[in-house]
Amino acid sequence: MLSPVSWSGGGVHIIRQTLLPDREVWVDLKTVDEVAEAIRCLDIRGAPAIGVAAALGMAQAARLYAGNDSGELIEAVEAAGDLLAGTRPTAVNLFWAIERMKKKLSDLSGRDAVGIRTGLLEEAQKIREEDIAFCKAIGEHGAQFMPDKGGILTHCNAGALATGGYGTALGVIRAAVEAGKDIRVYADETRPLLQGARLTTWELMQDKIPVTLICDNAAGHLMQLGRVQACVVGADRIAKNGDAANKIGTYSVAVLAQKHGIPFYVAAPSSTVDLSLKSGERIPIEERDGCEVTSPRDTCFAPPGVAVFNPAFDVTPNELIRAIITENGAATHPNMAKELEEMVLSTSRA
Ligand code: MRU
Repeated sequence: MLSPVSWSGGGVHIIRQTLLPDREVWVDLKTVDEVAEAIRCLDIRGAPAIGVAAALGMAQAARLYAGNDSGELIEAVEAAGDLLAGTRPTAVNLFWAIERMKKKLSDLSGRDAVGIRTGLLEEAQKIREEDIAFCKAIGEHGAQFMPDKGGILTHCNAGALATGGYGTALGVIRAAVEAGKDIRVYADETRPLLQGARLTTWELMQDKIPVTLICDNAAGHLMQLGRVQACVVGADRIAKNGDAANKIGTYSVAVLAQKHGIPFYVAAPSSTVDLSLKSGERIPIEERDGCEVTSPRDTCFAPPGVAVFNPAFDVTPNELIRAIITENGAATHPNMAKELEEMVLSTSRA
């Protein structure tokens, strides 16, 4: 199974997603600065994968501190957590993973430096392994919602590449295919950074799951033609009421799906749910450099100096979402908020 981020023994082992699909380059990130830069530039991306990378980066910080003073070691790990927290603002899994590592650090504070280092690496690896297990559970819960035969539209990449492995939205699709369903995936190209065109197609083609690439603006036409029976996407942060932030353009897909009577699903682990936010309005939306829009892959096709608005995410209101599928089942209306909260608490109690 493809896993985009793991511990190699000497560093945080990642596949450089900015180079896909042209080149498959794996690297070991040796310093916390390298991990932070990989998250910032989207070499490692997708909410759960960012969380796993940050946790491993904090474990790496503990290893890089060569001394024996546990107080200094704790300070070094906390500083690494602060640096990593400043990389991207929207995916809450990043902050969730950093908090979990800081909690572990505090639980380990009575130990010597060796014990702290070992304990932190074990925790980071646990976060990764749990994420893979949760993706598989999301797949099992979500497959029933997929049509026995038909087209499923997805936006961005919420696959193995975006998680510890297996994927959330693509996990649901994988599980449906494994259950024998006859499915064709329609992958939105996902402007401006083309996660759909570059990553979703690549990953599905490797698994021999039928996939057709479309321009983002072809989605409505495809729905009019009756070729989409369900939409499933991932999420970067889900508020308490079920409003879900995901890659820019997701909201447009949800509106189109509603217009055409097509069910729209969000698949995400409970680490993506932010119970501190009552609704989606408060979700911080990352804005990225305008050159991603004017000059993708260094080919400029807009007049120099043009004003650009480049939000990386948008928020889909819960009323457009048929179900939010987590590792603990599906939250649906009319009790979506309550069911979502129960699912989050059930994992945090376990
Ligand atoms: O900017 P990205 O590529 O990190 O955005 C990723 C997405 O929007 C994904 O859909 C989301 O993180 C869910 S990943 C399982």
